[in-house]
Amino acid sequence: MLDHETIYILAIESSCDDTSAAVLMNDKVLSNVVATQAIHNEYGGVVPELASRAHQQNIVPVVHQAIAKANIDKKQLSAIAFTRGPGLMGSLLVGTSFAKSLSLGLQIPLIEVNHMKAHILAHFIDEETMKAPSFPFLALTISGGHTQIVQVNDYFDMKIIGQTLDDAVGEAFDKSAKILGLPYPGGPLIDKYAATGDPHKFEFTIPNVKNLDFSFSGLKTNILYFIQKQTKENPDFIKNNLEDICASIQYTIITILMKKLKKAVKQTGIKEIAIGGGVSANSGIRKVLVEAQTKYGWKTYIPKFEYCTDNAAMIGIVGYYKYKNEQFSQQDVTAKARYVIS
Ligand code: KG4
Ligand code: ZN
Repeated sequence: MLDHETIYILAIESSCDDTSAAVLMNDKVLSNVVATQAIHNEYGGVVPELASRAHQQNIVPVVHQAIAKANIDKKQLSAIAFTRGPGLMGSLLVGTSFAKSLSLGLQIPLIEVNHMKAHILAHFIDEETMKAPSFPFLALTISGGHTQIVQVNDYFDMKIIGQTLDDAVGEAFDKSAKILGLPYPGGPLIDKYAATGDPHKFEFTIPNVKNLDFSFSGLKTNILYFIQKQTKENPDFIKNNLEDICASIQYTIITILMKKLKKAVKQTGIKEIAIGGGVSANSGIRKVLVEAQTKYGWKTYIPKFEYCTDNAAMIGIVGYYKYKNEQFSQQDVTAKARYVIS
Protein backbone atom coordinates (compact mmCIF):
# COMPACT_ATOMS: atom_id res chain seq x y z
CA MET A 1 0.00 0.00 0.00
CA LEU A 2 1.25 3.48 -0.83
CA ASP A 3 1.24 5.99 2.01
CA HIS A 4 -0.89 8.51 0.16
CA GLU A 5 -3.40 5.91 -1.07
CA THR A 6 -7.00 6.46 0.02
CA ILE A 7 -8.59 3.17 0.98
CA TYR A 8 -12.31 2.61 0.62
CA ILE A 9 -13.62 -0.45 2.43
CA LEU A 10 -17.14 -1.81 2.05
CA ALA A 11 -17.95 -3.77 5.19
CA ILE A 12 -20.73 -6.29 5.74
CA GLU A 13 -22.05 -7.59 9.06
CA SER A 14 -24.67 -10.36 9.29
CA SER A 15 -23.70 -12.47 12.31
CA CYS A 16 -26.94 -12.28 14.27
CA ASP A 17 -30.12 -10.31 13.68
CA ASP A 18 -28.82 -7.03 12.26
CA THR A 19 -28.02 -6.69 8.56
CA SER A 20 -25.47 -3.93 8.25
CA ALA A 21 -23.22 -2.40 5.59
CA ALA A 22 -20.75 0.45 5.94
CA VAL A 23 -18.27 2.32 3.81
CA LEU A 24 -15.05 3.60 5.34
CA MET A 25 -12.55 5.99 3.83
CA ASN A 26 -9.38 4.95 5.64
CA ASP A 27 -10.38 5.02 9.34
CA LYS A 28 -13.35 7.38 8.86
CA VAL A 29 -16.93 6.14 8.51
CA LEU A 30 -18.71 7.52 5.44
CA SER A 31 -21.86 5.46 5.99
CA ASN A 32 -23.10 2.84 8.44
CA VAL A 33 -26.52 1.41 7.60
CA VAL A 34 -28.18 -1.04 9.99
CA ALA A 35 -31.43 -2.89 9.29
CA THR A 36 -32.62 -4.33 12.60
CA GLN A 37 -34.92 -7.31 12.24
CA ALA A 38 -38.10 -6.58 14.17
CA ILE A 39 -39.49 -10.05 13.36
CA HIS A 40 -37.79 -11.59 16.43
CA ASN A 41 -39.52 -9.33 18.95
CA GLU A 42 -42.69 -11.42 18.99
CA TYR A 43 -40.73 -14.65 19.62
CA GLY A 44 -38.84 -13.45 22.69
CA GLY A 45 -35.44 -14.08 21.08
CA VAL A 46 -33.62 -14.43 17.77
CA VAL A 47 -35.03 -17.22 15.58
CA PRO A 48 -32.03 -18.32 13.45
CA GLU A 49 -34.08 -19.46 10.44
CA LEU A 50 -36.00 -16.18 10.31
CA ALA A 51 -32.77 -14.21 10.78
CA SER A 52 -31.09 -15.75 7.74
CA ARG A 53 -34.16 -15.20 5.59
CA ALA A 54 -34.35 -11.55 6.65
CA HIS A 55 -30.61 -11.09 5.94
CA GLN A 56 -31.16 -12.40 2.45
CA GLN A 57 -33.97 -9.93 1.94
CA ASN A 58 -32.09 -6.98 3.43
CA ILE A 59 -28.56 -7.41 2.20
CA VAL A 60 -28.82 -5.89 -1.27
CA PRO A 61 -30.82 -2.79 -0.28
CA VAL A 62 -28.61 -2.23 2.78
CA VAL A 63 -25.40 -2.40 0.72
CA HIS A 64 -26.89 -0.12 -1.94
CA GLN A 65 -27.88 2.38 0.71
CA ALA A 66 -24.43 2.31 2.34
CA ILE A 67 -22.71 2.99 -0.99
CA ALA A 68 -25.20 5.71 -1.92
CA LYS A 69 -24.85 7.44 1.47
CA ALA A 70 -21.06 7.32 1.22
CA ASN A 71 -21.43 9.06 -2.12
CA ILE A 72 -18.86 6.92 -3.88
CA ASP A 73 -18.93 4.66 -6.87
CA LYS A 74 -18.58 0.89 -6.40
CA LYS A 75 -15.53 1.06 -8.68
CA GLN A 76 -13.70 3.15 -6.06
CA LEU A 77 -13.86 0.35 -3.46
CA SER A 78 -10.47 -1.06 -2.46
CA ALA A 79 -11.74 -4.20 -0.69
CA ILE A 80 -14.75 -5.95 0.84
CA ALA A 81 -14.60 -6.84 4.54
CA PHE A 82 -17.13 -9.23 6.06
CA THR A 83 -17.91 -10.95 9.35
CA ARG A 84 -16.67 -14.52 9.12
CA GLY A 85 -17.81 -15.37 12.66
CA PRO A 86 -18.65 -15.98 15.44
CA GLY A 87 -22.40 -15.97 15.07
CA LEU A 88 -25.37 -17.89 13.70
CA MET A 89 -24.29 -20.05 10.76
CA GLY A 90 -27.32 -19.29 8.57
CA SER A 91 -26.87 -15.57 9.15
CA LEU A 92 -23.11 -15.60 8.55
CA LEU A 93 -23.56 -17.52 5.30
CA VAL A 94 -25.60 -14.70 3.78
CA GLY A 95 -22.96 -12.01 4.42
CA THR A 96 -20.06 -14.32 3.57
CA SER A 97 -21.53 -15.44 0.24
CA PHE A 98 -22.52 -11.91 -0.67
CA ALA A 99 -19.07 -10.52 0.15
CA LYS A 100 -17.34 -13.25 -1.86
CA SER A 101 -19.52 -12.67 -4.91
CA LEU A 102 -19.05 -8.92 -4.83
CA SER A 103 -15.28 -9.18 -4.41
CA LEU A 104 -15.18 -11.56 -7.36
CA GLY A 105 -17.42 -9.29 -9.45
CA LEU A 106 -15.44 -6.14 -8.67
CA GLN A 107 -12.10 -7.98 -8.73
CA ILE A 108 -11.00 -6.54 -5.40
CA PRO A 109 -9.61 -8.26 -2.27
CA LEU A 110 -11.77 -10.01 0.28
CA ILE A 111 -11.07 -9.56 4.01
CA GLU A 112 -12.51 -11.81 6.72
CA VAL A 113 -13.16 -10.22 10.11
CA ASN A 114 -13.71 -11.71 13.55
CA HIS A 115 -16.84 -10.06 15.00
CA MET A 116 -15.46 -9.95 18.55
CA LYS A 117 -12.21 -8.34 17.44
CA ALA A 118 -14.32 -5.81 15.58
CA HIS A 119 -16.23 -4.89 18.77
CA ILE A 120 -12.80 -4.13 20.29
CA LEU A 121 -11.22 -2.30 17.35
CA ALA A 122 -14.36 -0.15 16.91
CA HIS A 123 -12.50 2.21 19.27
CA PHE A 124 -10.06 3.01 16.46
CA ILE A 125 -12.72 4.54 14.20
CA ASP A 126 -11.72 8.16 13.67
CA GLU A 127 -14.56 10.20 15.22
CA GLU A 128 -14.49 13.57 16.88
CA THR A 129 -16.19 12.28 20.03
CA MET A 130 -14.04 9.17 20.40
CA LYS A 131 -10.44 8.68 21.50
CA ALA A 132 -8.56 5.47 20.81
CA PRO A 133 -7.05 3.57 23.76
CA SER A 134 -3.28 3.06 23.89
CA PHE A 135 -1.76 -0.43 23.78
CA PRO A 136 -1.79 -2.49 25.88
CA PHE A 137 -5.38 -2.12 27.07
CA LEU A 138 -8.07 -4.33 28.52
CA ALA A 139 -11.27 -4.76 26.53
CA LEU A 140 -14.46 -5.81 28.23
CA THR A 141 -16.61 -7.20 25.43
CA ILE A 142 -20.17 -7.60 26.55
CA SER A 143 -22.83 -8.68 24.09
CA GLY A 144 -25.78 -11.00 23.60
CA GLY A 145 -23.41 -13.86 22.81
CA HIS A 146 -20.19 -13.05 24.66
CA THR A 147 -18.68 -11.78 27.88
CA GLN A 148 -14.92 -11.54 27.75
CA ILE A 149 -12.01 -9.64 29.18
CA VAL A 150 -9.38 -9.41 26.48
CA GLN A 151 -5.83 -8.16 26.86
CA VAL A 152 -5.13 -6.21 23.68
CA ASN A 153 -1.40 -5.80 23.05
CA ASP A 154 -1.74 -4.60 19.47
CA TYR A 155 -4.34 -4.50 16.68
CA PHE A 156 -3.84 -8.18 16.00
CA ASP A 157 -2.31 -9.41 19.22
CA MET A 158 -5.16 -10.20 21.61
CA LYS A 159 -5.58 -12.71 24.40
CA ILE A 160 -8.77 -13.68 26.24
CA ILE A 161 -7.97 -13.57 29.97
CA GLY A 162 -11.50 -14.10 31.29
CA GLN A 163 -14.87 -15.17 29.94
CA THR A 164 -18.30 -16.44 30.86
CA LEU A 165 -18.69 -20.09 31.71
CA ASP A 166 -22.38 -20.08 30.78
CA ASP A 167 -24.72 -17.22 29.77
CA ALA A 168 -23.45 -13.99 28.24
CA VAL A 169 -24.20 -10.75 30.05
CA GLY A 170 -26.63 -9.67 27.30
CA GLU A 171 -28.50 -12.94 27.82
CA ALA A 172 -28.64 -12.19 31.55
CA PHE A 173 -30.32 -8.87 30.72
CA ASP A 174 -32.64 -10.39 28.11
CA LYS A 175 -33.64 -13.43 30.18
CA SER A 176 -34.28 -11.29 33.28
CA ALA A 177 -36.44 -9.02 31.15
CA LYS A 178 -38.36 -12.02 29.86
CA ILE A 179 -39.06 -13.14 33.45
CA LEU A 180 -40.51 -9.66 34.02
CA GLY A 181 -42.72 -10.04 30.95
CA LEU A 182 -40.77 -7.50 28.88
CA PRO A 183 -40.31 -8.04 25.12
CA TYR A 184 -37.04 -9.02 23.39
CA PRO A 185 -34.43 -7.56 23.47
CA GLY A 186 -34.99 -6.69 27.10
CA GLY A 187 -31.57 -5.16 27.86
CA PRO A 188 -32.44 -1.63 26.70
CA LEU A 189 -35.78 -1.82 28.59
CA ILE A 190 -34.15 -2.84 31.87
CA ASP A 191 -31.77 0.08 31.33
CA LYS A 192 -34.71 2.44 30.76
CA TYR A 193 -36.73 1.37 33.83
CA ALA A 194 -33.59 1.17 36.01
CA ALA A 195 -33.02 4.90 35.52
CA THR A 196 -35.80 5.78 37.96
CA GLY A 197 -35.48 2.80 40.31
CA ASP A 198 -33.68 2.08 43.57
CA PRO A 199 -30.68 -0.22 42.87
CA HIS A 200 -30.52 -1.33 46.51
CA LYS A 201 -34.19 -2.23 46.94
CA PHE A 202 -33.74 -5.94 46.16
CA GLU A 203 -30.62 -8.00 46.65
CA PHE A 204 -29.50 -10.69 44.22
CA THR A 205 -26.60 -13.07 44.66
CA ILE A 206 -23.18 -12.22 43.26
CA PRO A 207 -21.70 -15.55 42.08
CA ASN A 208 -18.34 -16.71 43.27
CA VAL A 209 -16.42 -17.64 40.12
CA LYS A 210 -12.72 -18.41 39.93
CA ASN A 211 -10.06 -16.32 38.18
CA LEU A 212 -11.33 -13.70 35.73
CA ASP A 213 -14.27 -15.80 34.54
CA PHE A 214 -17.95 -14.96 34.81
CA SER A 215 -21.19 -16.85 35.36
CA PHE A 216 -24.67 -15.46 34.85
CA SER A 217 -26.93 -18.50 34.82
CA GLY A 218 -27.29 -18.56 38.62
CA LEU A 219 -28.42 -14.94 38.64
CA LYS A 220 -31.18 -15.74 36.16
CA THR A 221 -32.45 -18.58 38.42
CA ASN A 222 -32.12 -16.34 41.46
CA ILE A 223 -34.29 -13.68 39.80
CA LEU A 224 -36.82 -16.26 38.54
CA TYR A 225 -37.38 -17.78 42.03
CA PHE A 226 -37.54 -14.34 43.61
CA ILE A 227 -40.18 -13.13 41.15
CA GLN A 228 -42.19 -16.36 41.42
CA LYS A 229 -42.24 -16.09 45.21
CA GLN A 230 -43.19 -12.40 45.23
CA THR A 231 -45.94 -12.68 42.59
CA LYS A 232 -47.48 -15.57 44.51
CA GLU A 233 -47.91 -13.21 47.47
CA ASN A 234 -48.83 -10.21 45.34
CA PRO A 235 -49.86 -10.70 41.68
CA ASP A 236 -49.12 -7.01 41.02
CA PHE A 237 -45.58 -7.25 42.40
CA ILE A 238 -43.83 -6.73 39.05
CA LYS A 239 -46.12 -3.88 38.00
CA ASN A 240 -45.73 -2.10 41.33
CA ASN A 241 -41.95 -2.52 41.55
CA LEU A 242 -40.71 -2.63 37.94
CA GLU A 243 -38.27 0.27 38.22
CA ASP A 244 -36.75 -0.98 41.49
CA ILE A 245 -36.47 -4.57 40.20
CA CYS A 246 -34.76 -3.40 37.01
CA ALA A 247 -32.41 -1.09 38.91
CA SER A 248 -31.49 -3.91 41.31
CA ILE A 249 -30.85 -6.39 38.47
CA GLN A 250 -28.74 -3.85 36.59
CA TYR A 251 -26.81 -2.98 39.75
CA THR A 252 -26.04 -6.67 40.36
CA ILE A 253 -24.84 -7.23 36.79
CA ILE A 254 -22.63 -4.14 36.88
CA THR A 255 -21.20 -5.21 40.24
CA ILE A 256 -20.29 -8.63 38.77
CA LEU A 257 -18.59 -7.00 35.77
CA MET A 258 -16.71 -4.41 37.82
CA LYS A 259 -15.51 -6.99 40.33
CA LYS A 260 -13.75 -8.93 37.57
CA LEU A 261 -12.51 -5.82 35.80
CA LYS A 262 -10.87 -4.61 39.02
CA LYS A 263 -9.27 -8.03 39.45
CA ALA A 264 -8.00 -7.93 35.83
CA VAL A 265 -6.46 -4.50 36.36
CA LYS A 266 -4.75 -5.73 39.52
CA GLN A 267 -3.48 -8.84 37.79
CA THR A 268 -2.16 -7.17 34.62
CA GLY A 269 -1.31 -3.70 35.90
CA ILE A 270 -3.12 -2.29 32.85
CA LYS A 271 -5.39 0.66 33.59
CA GLU A 272 -6.56 1.45 30.05
CA ILE A 273 -10.04 -0.03 29.80
CA ALA A 274 -12.22 -0.13 26.69
CA ILE A 275 -15.70 -1.59 26.48
CA GLY A 276 -17.49 -2.95 23.46
CA GLY A 277 -20.50 -5.00 22.40
CA GLY A 278 -24.23 -4.34 22.65
CA VAL A 279 -24.34 -4.20 26.45
CA SER A 280 -21.84 -1.34 26.47
CA ALA A 281 -24.81 0.79 25.37
CA ASN A 282 -26.07 0.36 28.95
CA SER A 283 -26.19 3.73 30.70
CA GLY A 284 -25.39 2.25 34.12
CA ILE A 285 -22.19 0.61 32.87
CA ARG A 286 -21.18 3.75 30.98
CA LYS A 287 -21.66 5.85 34.13
CA VAL A 288 -19.69 3.50 36.39
CA LEU A 289 -16.82 3.42 33.88
CA VAL A 290 -16.68 7.18 33.64
CA GLU A 291 -16.59 7.36 37.46
CA ALA A 292 -13.79 4.74 37.51
CA GLN A 293 -11.47 7.34 35.99
CA THR A 294 -11.41 9.40 39.17
CA LYS A 295 -12.26 6.59 41.57
CA TYR A 296 -9.56 4.12 40.47
CA GLY A 297 -7.33 6.24 38.21
CA TRP A 298 -8.28 4.19 35.13
CA LYS A 299 -8.54 5.60 31.62
CA THR A 300 -11.81 4.33 30.24
CA TYR A 301 -13.01 4.31 26.64
CA ILE A 302 -16.66 4.04 25.71
CA PRO A 303 -17.70 3.88 22.05
CA LYS A 304 -20.49 5.90 20.50
CA PHE A 305 -23.86 4.12 20.81
CA GLU A 306 -23.98 3.23 17.12
CA TYR A 307 -20.66 1.38 17.40
CA CYS A 308 -21.71 -0.57 20.51
CA THR A 309 -24.48 -2.75 19.10
CA ASP A 310 -23.83 -4.80 15.97
CA ASN A 311 -22.79 -2.62 13.04
CA ALA A 312 -20.66 -2.90 9.91
CA ALA A 313 -18.50 0.17 10.63
CA MET A 314 -16.58 -1.87 13.21
CA ILE A 315 -16.05 -4.60 10.60
CA GLY A 316 -14.79 -1.88 8.25
CA ILE A 317 -12.16 -0.56 10.67
CA VAL A 318 -10.69 -4.06 11.06
CA GLY A 319 -10.84 -4.34 7.25
CA TYR A 320 -8.83 -1.14 6.99
CA TYR A 321 -6.05 -2.35 9.30
CA LYS A 322 -5.95 -5.75 7.61
CA TYR A 323 -5.80 -4.08 4.18
CA LYS A 324 -2.79 -2.07 5.30
CA ASN A 325 -1.14 -5.35 6.37
CA GLU A 326 -2.26 -7.04 3.15
CA GLN A 327 -4.05 -9.72 5.14
CA PHE A 328 -6.49 -10.89 2.51
CA SER A 329 -8.74 -13.96 2.38
CA GLN A 330 -9.09 -16.52 -0.37
CA GLN A 331 -12.33 -17.14 -2.26
CA ASP A 332 -12.73 -20.54 -0.54
CA VAL A 333 -13.03 -18.94 2.92
CA THR A 334 -16.02 -20.28 4.89
CA ALA A 335 -18.21 -18.81 7.64
CA LYS A 336 -17.27 -19.92 11.15
CA ALA A 337 -19.99 -20.07 13.82
CA ARG A 338 -17.42 -20.61 16.59
CA TYR A 339 -14.48 -18.32 16.00
CA VAL A 340 -12.33 -17.67 19.03
CA ILE A 341 -10.12 -14.58 19.27
CA SER A 342 -6.46 -15.49 19.05
O1 KG4 B 1 -23.43 -6.81 20.32
P1 KG4 B 1 -24.90 -7.03 20.15
O2 KG4 B 1 -25.68 -6.00 19.37
O3 KG4 B 1 -25.18 -8.41 19.48
C1 KG4 B 1 -24.45 -9.54 19.78
O4 KG4 B 1 -23.35 -9.71 19.18
O5 KG4 B 1 -24.92 -10.28 20.66
O6 KG4 B 1 -25.52 -7.19 21.61
C2 KG4 B 1 -26.90 -7.38 21.82
C3 KG4 B 1 -27.17 -7.43 23.32
C4 KG4 B 1 -28.60 -7.84 23.66
O7 KG4 B 1 -28.54 -8.83 24.66
C5 KG4 B 1 -29.21 -6.55 24.19
O8 KG4 B 1 -30.22 -6.76 25.15
C6 KG4 B 1 -28.01 -5.89 24.81
O9 KG4 B 1 -26.97 -6.13 23.89
N1 KG4 B 1 -28.21 -4.44 25.00
C7 KG4 B 1 -28.30 -3.87 26.22
C8 KG4 B 1 -28.52 -2.48 25.99
N2 KG4 B 1 -28.56 -2.27 24.64
C9 KG4 B 1 -28.35 -3.49 24.05
N3 KG4 B 1 -28.21 -4.40 27.45
C10 KG4 B 1 -28.34 -3.54 28.49
N4 KG4 B 1 -28.57 -2.22 28.35
C11 KG4 B 1 -28.65 -1.65 27.14
N5 KG4 B 1 -28.87 -0.34 27.01
ZN1 ZN C 1 -21.92 -8.19 18.58
